[in-house]
Amino acid sequence: MLITRDLVKRYGPQLALDGVSLDIGRGEFFGLLGPNGAGKSTFMSLVAGLRPPDAGSLTLDGVAVTTADPSTRTALGLVPQSIALFEDLSAEQNLRVFGELYGLRGALLRERIDEALEAVQLADRRRDQVKKFSGGMQRRLNLVVSLLHRPKLLLCDEPTVGIDPQSRNAIFDFLEARNREGLTIIYSTHYMEEATRLCSRIGIIDHGRIHALGTLEELLTRLPFADEIAFPATPFTAEFAARLAEHGELTTADGEHLFRSRPEFKTSAFYALAEECQLPARLFVTRRPTLEALFLHLTGRTLRE
Ligand SMILES: Nc1ncnc2c1ncn2[C@@H]1O[C@H](COP(=O)(O)OP(=O)(O)O)[C@@H](O)[C@H]1O
Ligand SMILES: [Mg+2]
Repeated sequence: MLITRDLVKRYGPQLALDGVSLDIGRGEFFGLLGPNGAGKSTFMSLVAGLRPPDAGSLTLDGVAVTTADPSTRTALGLVPQSIALFEDLSAEQNLRVFGELYGLRGALLRERIDEALEAVQLADRRRDQVKKFSGGMQRRLNLVVSLLHRPKLLLCDEPTVGIDPQSRNAIFDFLEARNREGLTIIYSTHYMEEATRLCSRIGIIDHGRIHALGTLEELLTRLPFADEIAFPATPFTAEFAARLAEHGELTTADGEHLFRSRPEFKTSAFYALAEECQLPARLFVTRRPTLEALFLHLTGRTLRE
């Protein structure tokens, strides 16, 4: 659906994208995960043909994306990071304006507007001015506006920042349903929980470069430890903790030890050692490492910066 090669974008001396090459297949739910300033919005604006790259190329469904040719824009929908609605107009009027801009008219447009309002539970508020909506309602409307013309590719740029959990879940459910129907989605976020829940493949971006790319499981294999095992920090476990430290990284916080084993130290060896120290297996909780741990490992930065 989308091929980018060595995309570079500068704003004056500021390098915002530093050689981004991605292949995004039809029907993917692709996550672009990175902290503020990583280059996510810049990437979206190049794909949407709003800005030209300084170098590199972009192909959307076989057609080169250029700022000069608006035809590629009808193939995609963009949900921008800042809400782009006319706040003095009603929900319905907003949908009408954007629908008409995409060339929709008459019965088809009316049908699409009704569907859109239903899909994000705004049908009962259709005649209310958008400025009277909560942030979450505005986000939901902003989302369906971008899909009126039935694009093949949807670009969602941090669509859930600063909204209530109900709206967030409504947006997730909506996007997952559209993706199941075949819509290709590129979703940028700095929340790893969102990337974990939604995305079939994730690209980790920082300082304009893709640092890692793959499914969640593939990405986690890049960590120098396999699992995280937590157990209580008590005098009872002190000797065990001291012996474990030879086999990986041991941290202690909030009354809990967290052990990250070196890959060669097997879980069976862990439990053998616990048995030697007379510690029962029920003390231990094994967890999958988080994307946050991976992000820190790859970039030395936290996602929340
Ligand atoms: N219009 C602009 N003018 C100058 N610098 C910009 C502009 N837009 C973004 N930048 C800079 O480019 C880098 C990437 O920004 P952006 O793509 O907005 O990142 P993200 O969306 O991941 O937060 C940042 O360092 C940002 O300050
Ligand atoms: Mg952004």
